[in-house]
Amino acid sequence: MADQVPILVTGAAGQLGAVGRTVTGLLLGRGFPVRAMVRREDDRAAALRAAGAEVVVGDLLEPPDVYRVVSGCRRVYFGMSVSAGYLEATVTMAVVAREVGVDAVVNMSQMTVSEMSIQKTTSSGQQRQHWLSEQALAWSGLPVVTIRPTMFLESFLQLAGPTVRNRGRIEVPFGQGKTSPVATADVARVIAAVLADPGPHLGRIYELTGPRSQDMHGIAREFSEALNREVTYSDIPAGDWERGLKKWGLPEHLTRHLVTMGELHRAGRYDRLADGVERVTGRPAMSVREFVSLHADEFGGRLS
Ligand SMILES: NC(=O)c1ccc[n+]([C@@H]2O[C@H](COP(=O)([O-])OP(=O)(O)OC[C@H]3O[C@@H](n4cnc5c(N)ncnc54)[C@H](OP(=O)(O)O)[C@@H]3O)[C@@H](O)[C@H]2O)c1
Repeated sequence: MADQVPILVTGAAGQLGAVGRTVTGLLLGRGFPVRAMVRREDDRAAALRAAGAEVVVGDLLEPPDVYRVVSGCRRVYFGMSVSAGYLEATVTMAVVAREVGVDAVVNMSQMTVSEMSIQKTTSSGQQRQHWLSEQALAWSGLPVVTIRPTMFLESFLQLAGPTVRNRGRIEVPFGQGKTSPVATADVARVIAAVLADPGPHLGRIYELTGPRSQDMHGIAREFSEALNREVTYSDIPAGDWERGLKKWGLPEHLTRHLVTMGELHRAGRYDRLADGVERVTGRPAMSVREFVSLHADEFGGRLS
């Protein structure tokens, strides 16, 4: 019988990775009551409610909102979309969680933090804020579990969806760098497993990657196999990519983060393999081929 105190899941509506939304579904499926925090009432909030979650509306940058949603919960998943106020939101959550008193805070971070130090940060404000957030949470003395995924496979829907659909090409400035993207379905499985029984995980850091680290030609081959048509990799100049991102009108914070992600890929900094997914869930992480098969329509469909 699952504990009847609700588990708080922030960022539950979902934009890019929608980790919070998937975690909500997994926990509800296991019989846990979930308080799902969203920023606004919309169709996504209605869907969460229909699935059985207690939906609460609030802003993670507003301390009274955070106090209201955390009160009455003992376990928290803290994650929100890539945004300039990330560190402020994390510290606000830490202050509130200390005040309310919780048993576990599962903190979404990034694998790049594993390679960061005072002398070696990166030019992505998002990555720096995750690095600082992890330290602030450590100082807080809260019972924290840290989740450090590498690049989400879902990022390819945004970054390569249109070019795979229109030209059969993945056009990103990753050079010959290897990468091991992870599906958010796997990230969410890890987080749900930790929230279901946090005790053995407290204080741990889980690095999460997909099952293989390979260059972008290898990734493109897995796309080809999944879609049954040729998909190739085109290493585009970093400047062209940055200009393209700016044309999309993304917030400057996100554009800077994606530009840094390209630079770090080129420098081989995403060539990492970690077994966090299998260690926590007992099942291996999803491959690129499996992910693309599941999302074939979004990549222009599979040839029969
Ligand atoms: N993308 C990657 O490759 C990658 C890799 C590793 C780690 N990460 C980390 O994963 C996290 C993002 O996770 P995700 O992709 O699951 O998130 P997401 O789906 O993009 O966003 C989750 C939700 O956060 C909500 N949100 C944003 N600002 C908020 C605020 N001030 N108050 C309340 N809610 C707010 C958004 O609400 P609305 O939709 O209503 O605006 C959104 O639905 C970040 O920490 C990122 O650094 C990402």
